[in-house]
Amino acid sequence: MKTQTLFYQLFESQSSTYTYLLGDVASKKAVLIDPVIETVDRDLNLLHELGLELDLILETHIHADHITGAGELRSRTGAKVGVAEVAGADSVDLPLVDGQVVKVGHLEIKVLATPGHTNACLSFLCEDRVFTGDVLLIRGTGRTDFQQGSPESLYESVHEKLFSLPDETFVYPGHDYRGLPYTTIGLEKAYNLRLGGGRSSADFIKTMSELKLAQPKRIQEAVPANLKLGLTPGGRVFHPQVVNNIPEIQPEDVNLHLGRNFQLVDVRRPEEFNNELGHVPGAKLVTLGPELMKFLESADRNSEIVFICRSGGRSGQATAMSLDFGYKHTMNMIGGMLRWNELGLPVARD
Ligand SMILES: [Fe+2]
Repeated sequence: MKTQTLFYQLFESQSSTYTYLLGDVASKKAVLIDPVIETVDRDLNLLHELGLELDLILETHIHADHITGAGELRSRTGAKVGVAEVAGADSVDLPLVDGQVVKVGHLEIKVLATPGHTNACLSFLCEDRVFTGDVLLIRGTGRTDFQQGSPESLYESVHEKLFSLPDETFVYPGHDYRGLPYTTIGLEKAYNLRLGGGRSSADFIKTMSELKLAQPKRIQEAVPANLKLGLTPGGRVFHPQVVNNIPEIQPEDVNLHLGRNFQLVDVRRPEEFNNELGHVPGAKLVTLGPELMKFLESADRNSEIVFICRSGGRSGQATAMSLDFGYKHTMNMIGGMLRWNELGLPVARD
């Protein structure tokens, strides 16, 4: 890799997804490959730390196992989004086709159409490394049983487009479930369990047809959302992260979207609402207990609600209760007003 190229491999642990950052030191422009919605803030913080401006977001394919951060990053930075033209996703800035070269500062990224895992999979070649999404994984391949996947075309993509690259080319995949960061073309030609070591297309097709894999947990939600670049269905504001069955959201995220169409419900006692910690501007006081029960009985089960308390404990209980009541889009603001104040976010007192 050239000295003026910055490179980071980033990991999202819920879906074991790798996101890649490529930056050009001279122009200060950067590219993100396969960002994940849950880690948008991490990515923006890293770009900020490095003094880089996000110019382009590339998607290797329409993911089924996680929601892309592309739409959210575009709305927060003005970066362009590139996705395979054949994916037919909404509002793509750069519909990408095989052989196209995309330039960002001195970075030159060559688009390789590598269908098979889905019909719209791309790999991106930049200098000495290739980003293969879910087509070629470390010692494995992506599955081929949905989104117009095809074992024949995956085998052909890997053999013709990827195995024709120099053996020393580094391969950076979209996922790794064992914690390995990268491999090389030479290693995969020799050791890939599904299609390396001289295995034939017929062997590969047989292997793939015998896999009995469960559907990815989030496929019903993720594919439609990703066809809209990860922007939430129904215009919802948040993509909470689910921890121990409770959807959670960071205070920074709440602050970023203040004034948008969601409810803030503070479940503390009345005397706490205007104490030294204050409350989030626009929050409504509905104390945990009978008052909250009454609220949950009457409010719209589809409304998007963020629960808040002092440190996140009571609002976690309120979130759990709301789920029991059948609410679909409620979440806990973690860290509560203590964290909110630590972060120096705006506080209201009536
Ligand atoms: Fe995938």
